[in-house]
Amino acid sequence: MKLNAGGLSSLVVGREKEIEILKSYINFSQHTVIMAPRRYGKTTLANKVLDELKNEYLIVKVDIFQATNIKELCERYLNAIYKSVGIANFLNEVKQSVLSFIDKFSLSYEIEGIKIGYEIFRENDENKFIEKTFNFANTFAKLHKKKMLVFFDEFGDIEKFDQNFIKKIRSYMQTHENIVYLFAGSQTSVINTIFLKKENAFFNFASLMKIGFLDKNEAEKFLKSVRIDGRGFNKKVIESIYDITKFHPFYMIKLMQESFISSLLEKNKTIRVTDVDNALKKILNDNNAFFETTWQQINRKRYKGSIYKQFCQGKTQIKNIDINSSYKSQLIKELKMESLLSDELNPTDPFLGLWLTKRNQNV
Ligand SMILES: Nc1ncnc2c1ncn2[C@@H]1O[C@H](COP(=O)(O)OP(=O)(O)OP(=O)(O)O)[C@@H](O)[C@H]1O
Ligand SMILES: [Mg+2]
Repeated sequence: MKLNAGGLSSLVVGREKEIEILKSYINFSQHTVIMAPRRYGKTTLANKVLDELKNEYLIVKVDIFQATNIKELCERYLNAIYKSVGIANFLNEVKQSVLSFIDKFSLSYEIEGIKIGYEIFRENDENKFIEKTFNFANTFAKLHKKKMLVFFDEFGDIEKFDQNFIKKIRSYMQTHENIVYLFAGSQTSVINTIFLKKENAFFNFASLMKIGFLDKNEAEKFLKSVRIDGRGFNKKVIESIYDITKFHPFYMIKLMQESFISSLLEKNKTIRVTDVDNALKKILNDNNAFFETTWQQINRKRYKGSIYKQFCQGKTQIKNIDINSSYKSQLIKELKMESLLSDELNPTDPFLGLWLTKRNQNV
């Protein structure tokens, strides 16, 4: 079975409610932004919904993180627009020979679409290139007489481009009656700034959809039924996986994978709680460098680490730290903006807390 943690996941556990909500927004033509810390399954959720809607919409996916500059972003966008009707590597094709490429098509709106795209590709003025590319998406949808669903993944990364660009694209997108825009982003501070600050370009443009860990019942149902090479997860093992991960999607899959591997190495015929313990140790060790760096970043400010640690221990009131309350609130706000604490003040990465506990035991 396919069970990869961190890659493009075709397996989607749970998210029934989220899928329904997202589909409703899209069918209302409501632009939406999926917001959650890293590895909560934003891309997985979006891909699932896009896949379910592929017959009704032209599906266009652009990952902002992959584009190093604005021109490249526009080029990727153009290619993605054509990909929505099955044309791969559009720019490469027309670069080689637009005439022989056009010959492959017979329908007038297809030929029209390629001609417009080719003209855009030859545009030298960067501002016009941006305007034409973004508006082309809407024209393309109109030509194909189909609504378009454009998914900008890692949208927080748009910040690396200048503010003028962001303002510009917002003003074009606002006029697109044939497109529903879906965004995903993980950096709370950036996404908040882009979508929630009154003075910013995307203020009020999209509905916010925050996603959390997997629903407990849905995840348990999945774990009860799943078999990996004939091995299943019994009740105790499932409880242990929940205690450790709280069904954080990435860590749940990772822990399943590593528990299975441990059972193979230990020559256990079934997956046991001891395999889950081994798996936890391995994941903490493998990610040691990542946790160390995150911990160092938190500790750049005095008292921030101690506050974070108390939240990891499940405390709701910060005690035994002799700082004034406004500075304390400021530090908590920062931890939230850095996506380290959720709005409810729970640590967003359950493994960082476990790593800290283990580290303290070793000291
Ligand atoms: N609903 C789900 N069912 C099963 N596995 C999932 C689910 N959601 C996420 N995962 C697992 O978690 C991993 C990370 O998910 P995904 O890449 O969708 O997260 P993300 O929020 O987009 O992360 P990033 O902020 O890093 O882009 C996936 O590779 C997959 O292993
Ligand atoms: Mg993602």
